[in-house]
Amino acid sequence: MQSIKKGFIILVGLIMVFTLTACGGSEDASSSSGGNDSSGIKEMTIKISHVVAENTPKHKGAMAMAKYIEKNSDGKIKVQVYPNGQLFDDKTEVKNLRANNVQFIIPDMSKMVGMNPAFNIPSLPFIFSSNEEAYAFWDGETGQEVLKSLESEKIIGLKMWPNGPKQITNTVRPIKTPEDLDGLKIRVQGGQVLANLFETLGAGPLQLPFGELYTALEQGTVDGQVNTFSNISTKKLGDVQKYITINWGAARVDYALLTNEKFWNGLNDETKELIQAGIDHGTKQARSLAEQLNQEGFKKIKERGNMEVYELSDEERKVFQETLQPVYDKFEEQIGADVIKAATEATAE
Ligand code: SIN
Repeated sequence: MQSIKKGFIILVGLIMVFTLTACGGSEDASSSSGGNDSSGIKEMTIKISHVVAENTPKHKGAMAMAKYIEKNSDGKIKVQVYPNGQLFDDKTEVKNLRANNVQFIIPDMSKMVGMNPAFNIPSLPFIFSSNEEAYAFWDGETGQEVLKSLESEKIIGLKMWPNGPKQITNTVRPIKTPEDLDGLKIRVQGGQVLANLFETLGAGPLQLPFGELYTALEQGTVDGQVNTFSNISTKKLGDVQKYITINWGAARVDYALLTNEKFWNGLNDETKELIQAGIDHGTKQARSLAEQLNQEGFKKIKERGNMEVYELSDEERKVFQETLQPVYDKFEEQIGADVIKAATEATAE
């Protein structure tokens, strides 16, 4: 009797083990131990985190990527997209990417200069005159080398996603000449180049996370800031700013889509191929919508009507360009003359 009971318990145990193994269960990508040795799309949940609002190129790209991956994995892979810094903010996202608590982040490159000073490129004055020139650089050999330069951080740079040229807003006066920036406190995203650009114009740059920007403007911690139309409009910065100067565009907001090595190298070939196709799809979407969303943002800013719009003429813009030329010499060594040359020579296809 005793041995029948024992045999029964062993049998039940074996059935349970078999059932659990066969069903698998969805795995959070953060706890995945990797799957290079098994083929087939693996069940998992992937997280994408970013700091901006929904009606922006970055969010639209992330959503397109998520939908593509979910659909083409027949729902085996779930992708959760967290906008507005809901999951991680500027200060915590890189650390959490490295720890695989999130599988993709898409920071403004000027916030990544601590990992490689070449990420200052979008902040170099007037470096690209269109999104297409920026793509030509980041998709080219030198841009790809910069994106792939993060191995020591256990991070992999996958693609450049655009937002676009920065416009200046502030509460003190309309900005028409470099002198108009004299003495203003300006919030900057990050990086030595952007800080120096404003110092060259006589302004005081202050680096703050995007999530703290609205309050900093509201409380007067800073007088102004520089950003794209889509970011200014979706965060309603016009409610706490009086003036906007457009056609400035001395620096850009561009992003790097990043993943971490633990997650990426743990994917089997089939899963990686599918996710890569999702990334390509999201990239296409972000790139094709960037210009349109910025124009829509500008339209909304004008309709809301609470900022006085000043459009720099091409001659006025040229004065900024000449004033800011010394920034190039100052950072040539740090960024690399070859990198600056490749960026300067990048031409739209
Ligand atoms: C972003 O577009 O990711 C944020 C830019 C900023 O910090 O101003």
